Amino acid sequence: MEISAFKMARGRRTRFMLLLCSLWCISTFAVILRTTDKDVWVNEFEPIELTCLIESISTNNPRIEWKKIKDGVPSYVYFQNKISGDLEHRAVLKEPANLLILNSSRSDSALYRCEVAAIDDHKPFDEILISLSVRVKPVAPRCNVPESVTVGSTTELRCMENEGFPPSQYQWFRNNEELPEEPKTSNRFFNSSYIMNTDTGSLKFRTVIKEDAGEYHCQARNEAGYSKCDPKLMDVYDPDIVGIALKVLAGVVALIFVTVGLCQAQKNGYCSCKDHRENNYKVPQHNNTMDYVSADEGHFRHKSSFII
Ligand SMILES: *[C@@H]1O[C@H](CO)[C@@H](O)[C@H](O)[C@H]1NC(C)=O
Ligand SMILES: *[C@@H]1O[C@H](CO)[C@@H](O)[C@H](O)[C@H]1NC(C)=O
Repeated sequence: MEISAFKMARGRRTRFMLLLCSLWCISTFAVILRTTDKDVWVNEFEPIELTCLIESISTNNPRIEWKKIKDGVPSYVYFQNKISGDLEHRAVLKEPANLLILNSSRSDSALYRCEVAAIDDHKPFDEILISLSVRVKPVAPRCNVPESVTVGSTTELRCMENEGFPPSQYQWFRNNEELPEEPKTSNRFFNSSYIMNTDTGSLKFRTVIKEDAGEYHCQARNEAGYSKCDPKLMDVYDPDIVGIALKVLAGVVALIFVTVGLCQAQKNGYCSCKDHRENNYKVPQHNNTMDYVSADEGHFRHKSSFII
């Protein structure tokens, strides 16, 4: 009884000592990294610093490495105390282990991993992962504006560019005045029937009115900046009354000609048909009756003669 109690007490003390030691060992002999920002955004051509702060270390000369992971494929950025890869002349390592990109490019958008190995530490390795997104300013969009449309028709204006990151949003302007997304919210555009899609750049008029005419241009915009296309004139015409009247008149004249022609033809055709029919009818009818009568008479004669 006494011995087992003594053993239990000793076991508890050993475990307590081990716990104390492990806490102390980890906090003193461990490399621990920290970053100020795990999700970094920068505009293209601007500098950016990816921070890799060493919270604790006891090794004097730790090994520092940076890797870039793009589409799941890692490559070296900082290795054997040198910047390598496509960042070679655009980045430097700053104390303690920060990666400073001097002139960021859209191709730098990727995950970056800072790895620090400290041989003399109890926990000799740590790493942190940072996501870098490079914003790209939109280029001048392509704009499609019809030169002329007719009142009452449907038409669509289109605006598009593919370089911007994040993807561009689109705005439309008429005579340098921005179109509100919803025409009913503005006195000036109240009667217009357009539907604007700021994601695709489409501006669709369901029923064009005279007031829709003007010089249109579009602007592609994102957090990195904006670009616009040259203004293009859209004319709006009334339906061509004179032209339509002339067409209708021409149609009527053509119809009259056709009708007269048909009547003439039909008249001739009708007369000849009637004559033929009358002749054909009269002649066979006469013959038939004659034949019939004579045949009947013959029958009669035969019958009579037979009976007699
Ligand atoms: C950054 O790079 C671009 C393209 O390579 C270049 O045109 C620009 O001058 C550079 N900017 C700086 C500040 O070095
Ligand atoms: C819209 O239409 C109404 C009725 O036709 C007209 O009175 C008004 O002036 C028009 N507004 C604009 C801005 O053209």
